[in-house]
Amino acid sequence: MLMKLMSSSIGRKILMALSGLFLVVFLTQHFLINITSVFSENLFNTLSHFMGNNPLVQFLLQPVLIFGVIFHFVMGFYLEILNAKSRTKNYSKYSGSSNASWISRNMIFSGGVILLFLVLHFIDFWIPEMNYKYVEALPQDPNRYFEELVHKFESPLRTFIYSISFIFLALHLLHGFSSSFKTVGVNSKYYDLIQKATFIFSVAIPLGFIFIAIFHNLTS
Ligand code: HEM
Repeated sequence: MLMKLMSSSIGRKILMALSGLFLVVFLTQHFLINITSVFSENLFNTLSHFMGNNPLVQFLLQPVLIFGVIFHFVMGFYLEILNAKSRTKNYSKYSGSSNASWISRNMIFSGGVILLFLVLHFIDFWIPEMNYKYVEALPQDPNRYFEELVHKFESPLRTFIYSISFIFLALHLLHGFSSSFKTVGVNSKYYDLIQKATFIFSVAIPLGFIFIAIFHNLTS
């Protein structure tokens, strides 16, 4: 099934859209957990401890998520290469800014910035977490998560890099969110609604992440 979809151009677009929508779901839950760090240290620690120690999350959802992230990026770069090739063959069909917005033409660029952000983000949080639990196998401490998070945002440089990355995340979502729904064939009578939802989600979630980063920088 996967191979069949991969072999056609529309199939590849559908896989790209589905993996993007899956990441949107992840982003929503990631935001909802992180925003609790702003108003309740206790709740944030409880949720993080649960996510970090529940076997279903750790050994099923986490590998699926990592696969989803890698798949989305690899397919994105692959589609970009295929599109570039077809543009050089049929150059008359592509007329730059006249038939596509700046954001939609630069998805590969905004995606690349998010990829760089994720490398930094994994070095900041995910790798130390894996090291704590599985390499050094340190004793469980359900109250350590908040302190670890706040400590990272003491750095103004890290807070700045994170905030800039979230602006690129907003740009990426502004095109990707609505485009995914259209690709998977949502009825065109819902396009207006999808456009509105895209704008709200793409602005609110990245702004919320910026707020979390700056809040901890200012209060640490
Ligand atoms: C201020 C904003 C953010 C904060 C404070 C934050 C915090 C964290 C923390 C604490 C973890 C470690 C979870 C663990 O394994 O225990 C994590 C993991 C992760 N974050 Fe973020 N994050 C932020 C924004 C983002 C954004 C915008 C993305 C995606 C574009 C993202 C993607 C990920 C991914 C993929 C993981 C690995 C998930 C896992 O499997 O554990 N994060 N983040």
